[in-house]
Amino acid sequence: MLNLRQKPCILVTGGAGFIGSHTVCELLDHDYDVVMIDDFYNAKPEVLDAIRTITKKDFVFEEGDCADRDFMDRIFREHTIDAVIHFAGYKAVGESVAKPLMYYRNNLDTTLTLLETMKKHGCHNLVFSSSATVYAYSEKMPLYESNPLGTTNPYGETKRMIERILTDVSHADPEDSFICLRYFNPVGAHPSGLIGEDPNGIPNNLMPFIVKVATGKIAKLRVFGNDYDTPDGTGMRDYIHVVDLAKAHLLALNYAFKRTGIDYINVGTGNGTSVLEMVESFRRVNHVDVPYEIVGRRPGDLAKVWADTSYAKKTLGFTAEKTIDDMCRDAYNYGVKHMK
Ligand code: UD1
Repeated sequence: MLNLRQKPCILVTGGAGFIGSHTVCELLDHDYDVVMIDDFYNAKPEVLDAIRTITKKDFVFEEGDCADRDFMDRIFREHTIDAVIHFAGYKAVGESVAKPLMYYRNNLDTTLTLLETMKKHGCHNLVFSSSATVYAYSEKMPLYESNPLGTTNPYGETKRMIERILTDVSHADPEDSFICLRYFNPVGAHPSGLIGEDPNGIPNNLMPFIVKVATGKIAKLRVFGNDYDTPDGTGMRDYIHVVDLAKAHLLALNYAFKRTGIDYINVGTGNGTSVLEMVESFRRVNHVDVPYEIVGRRPGDLAKVWADTSYAKKTLGFTAEKTIDDMCRDAYNYGVKHMK
């Protein structure tokens, strides 16, 4: 719950990253005070000025690691933090399989240190960046929050473990108010083209890969399988525009301020889009070619994944507004300006 003050102060960990930076823009646009921390492991310092340009507002930035107790303690001593949005963490599935210890150590350590520091300073409100990857395989779509959990890689397992830690911690303290947002497939970029997703090296995910092909950095998209049980045979996912996702964090914060306990909430659109539908939209809205070839299935991929979104609507009042065309337009606009 929130002790009523005019402007709540929100600590955003990993705030310079893809989803974090868009969420910080939303917070500043809605007159929250923001303290951002990031260690630039997977983000660039230029993002800070881009956020200031977009919002015409300023915020506190501290460079550091959430697993560093002294650093975190200082942040909470120097600022009265009303709530935390916790994005900081490693997020590459393939890398997590190759370096599981690095993933478990980093993602769990940062969260445990954050939670201990919050306890020490009497901060009880937290929105956690979880993922639809926590759900066990299901033939049936959509995925409901009540579906069984089960993961297939260390990255996903860190998300599931952190959800479990948050559950236990919140059960032990009646003042805690925690929300785990289970993101589906965040894509797109800020319409200004100033912030977006710029993965290091060759992208693994579909949208950044399409952008690299469309901007001539990579010759062809490889479509992983056209023999799935879907209308055109290619894999279907629930893509959500990152600006819609950022708005869901604000709604989640306001919800966290009003009640106590823990909730797990899907954030998606509720619609599945196939790889070829995405390519077609991208070509049409951006007037650009996206050469592709059909190759074999990617190991571990599922035919279809999308969310049931009724709980997000009921609890947060959240409904995604942006379309696949918006996602393609904004991702390309950012890519043309920024991707190397
Ligand atoms: C991946 C992650 C998931 C993460 C999500 C974030 C895996 C196994 N899962 O999910 O943990 O939360 O990203 O967005 O990596 N595709 C191609 N060609 C490509 C790339 C992708 O055809 O070059 C297809 C895939 O087969 C899939 C769809 O595009 O059908 C989406 O793939 P991707 O963007 O990697 O997302 P997910 O696999 O859903």
